[in-house]
Order: sequence, then structure tokens, then C-alpha cells
Amino acid sequence: MTDIQEPTSRFLRACARLETDATPVWLMRQAGRYMPEYRRIRERHSMLDVIGAPELAAEITLQPIEAFDVDAAIIFADILPPLIGMGFELEFVKGQGPCIHNPIQRTYDIDILATPPATATRLSATLDAIRLVSAELRSKEIPLIGFAGAPFTLASYAIEGGGTKSYVKTKALMYSEPAAWKRLMEKLVTVQADYLLAQAEAGASALQLFDSWAGLALSQQDYERYVRPYNQKLFAMVARAGVPVINFSTGTAAYIEDVAACGGDVIGVDWRMTLDWAWSRIGHDKAIQGNLDPVALLAPWRELSARIDDVLQRAEGRPGHILNQGHGVFPETPPDNVRRLVDYVHSKTLSPLRSQRPQR
Ligand code: CP3
Repeated sequence: MTDIQEPTSRFLRACARLETDATPVWLMRQAGRYMPEYRRIRERHSMLDVIGAPELAAEITLQPIEAFDVDAAIIFADILPPLIGMGFELEFVKGQGPCIHNPIQRTYDIDILATPPATATRLSATLDAIRLVSAELRSKEIPLIGFAGAPFTLASYAIEGGGTKSYVKTKALMYSEPAAWKRLMEKLVTVQADYLLAQAEAGASALQLFDSWAGLALSQQDYERYVRPYNQKLFAMVARAGVPVINFSTGTAAYIEDVAACGGDVIGVDWRMTLDWAWSRIGHDKAIQGNLDPVALLAPWRELSARIDDVLQRAEGRPGHILNQGHGVFPETPPDNVRRLVDYVHSKTLSPLRSQRPQR
């Protein structure tokens, strides 16, 4: 981070491992189908329409800020739209999830992929939404998180044509055409670095890179060989934005230190490992984000609060912990549990001794 001025918000202070008056909390997918306000908008507009309409995307981004006392907003968008500018036909199919109608089938398909700057594509609508939301949040001192997908996770959609449990096509291409894999990953690094830098320029005060699937697909050796060089390059390029960067992945307990070594100021960890174990492996010179099981939000309060207690206890009140889940909120989540979680984390960790003045 290049910022010399000390941030004042809880979330940005925690990113910099500074003392906070309470543990900051926000949730991945905090804007989404579990909220009736969101479902009402989605009844009338498709996913890509909403992402392409800055006013609607801004409105959805602000819904959880109005409903709960969360310490950060995340811009409403998705990791997949950057693929459209590269030449892929993306559709969000109701009840099925994302679908790429022209997935990569041969190395030639990789060679013809474009790498336009974000401003020259429909991603400019997301940059406009960031401008609208950051202007709105400035007076409330709530930071806005921009985000993008990491190269492996995006490549898996571009090659499989959608979600997968086995990653057969992705790994087969990786193993049999390593030079083509390199060209694909390098193109994705170019597009994603430009997009993330543009988001910071538009007003995002932090950035998160989602490598949601690398850990579920790859061994440590394959991660080192086929993912790490590209993630490392991407984090190095994005560090120029001068805002904190969160490095998020799932299923990476077996090699979380290698994931952390790729870069980022904050390491996002899932619930498959304990927070204290993860933090000691990563090193306490990085901040950490996590790591409730998102299904715990469907449990009775007794169970949920015990799990929150456990995560907080494992963080030991050390500066640099941002409470979040290990993955996104499920649509079945009762909004009341989100409200209780956020308020409980604040009240449980609030300490006037940890900071002289109140923060948000
Ligand atoms: O966190 C937020 O509140 C910001 C919004 C956000 C969305 N997607 C909105 C969305 C973010 C950060 C994402 C990231 C994303 N998208 C990831 C990485 C994080 C993760 O969850 O692993 C991935 C892999 C995707 C790809 C994607 N988009 C899938 C697999 C799906 C279908 C599954 C599902 O949950 O429906 C989507 C659609 C999507 N992206 C929805 C939302 C709110 C659901 C759309 C709807 O039906 O309303």
C-alpha cells in the first residue's frame, strides 16, 4: 500500500492491520437473492441488464448498507462479464447459473481472444456504478470494494462453458497444451489488471480478487506451476492502485501459504481451516478475512453465535481481522440472521480502549 495517510474506517484500518474500535464485518454476496429488495429488482431485470445499468447496480449495492450495519460495500457485478469483451458469449441461465455459449475448444480459440481495456467494453457500466456508489458512501465513510475473478477461476468458465465439479476440460488443456495455457492466463492477467486498476480509479477503496475454484481443482504442485506465476504478476500490477487488495480463495487449506505468497494485503480464508491455524501459516504480517461457514447462517442463533465466538476467539483481538464468511451468503439465509451476526460481532468486540474515537 502506498497510502501514507492513516485510514479512518474500521474496514480499511483492519486491511492495514491498524487498531480498530471493533472488528469490521461484511459478507461476500451480501447483496443478493436472500434479500427481498434484491429479488424485487431481479423480477423485472436480467442479471446482465442489472450489471449493465449503473443506477440499478448502485441501488442493489446499497441495499445491504441500508438494511445492516456492515462495514464495507461491495459493488454489485459479477466475475464473468470481463469475458464478454474478450469474445465470449455469456448468459446467466435462470435456475442453472452462468453459461458460455462459445467455450474454448482448441488453442486457436485462445489466440483470437481480445484484451480490450475495461473502458472500451460494457465493464464501463460497472465503473460508472462505482462512481455513483463511492460518491454516495463518502459522507458515511463506508468503503466500497471493487473486485474481479482470478485467471484460473475465469479460465475454468471459459473452457468448461459453465460451472463444473471435475475441471476435466480445464485441466486437460492445462496438462496437454501448457504453452496455450500460458497465453490464456497472460491474456486474463492483462484484462483483469486493467479492470481492477480502473475500478480503483473510479473510486473503489479496496479490491478483492476471487480465485474461488483453484483450490477445489488443483494440487499444490499444479497450483505452483499453473496458477501462482499469473496471480503473482496480477497482484504486482494491481499493487499500483494504492488501495488494499484482498486475495480470496476456497479449498486452499493444503497450501494457503503459497496462495498468500502470490500477493495481497489481506488473505481471505474459508471455513475448512481454523482461523488461528491459517493466520500462523500465512504470517501475522498480513491481514486475514473470514471464515464462518456460510451455512451456519441457516442454523439457530445458539449455534451461529457459538461459531462467531469461535472465529473471534481464534483471531485473539489481533489487529487485521475482518470478519466474513468463507464463501458467499446462500439465498436461503434469513436476513435477520445477517443483522444479528453483524450487530453481535460489533457489540462483542467493541472496546473503547482499542481506539480513541468511534469508527465505522
Ligand atoms: O458479493 C457481492 O454482493 C457482489 C456481487 C457478486 C456476484 N457474484 C453477484 C451474483 C460477486 C462478488 C460475485 C462473484 C462471483 N460470481 C464468483 C466468485 C465468488 C464465489 O461465489 O465464488 C463466481 C464464481 C461467480 C460466478 C457466478 N455468478 C455463478 C456461479 C453464479 C450462479 C450461482 C448463483 O449463485 O446463482 C452467478 C450469478 C450471480 N452472481 C448471482 C449474484 C447475486 C445470482 C444471480 C441471481 O439469480 O439473481
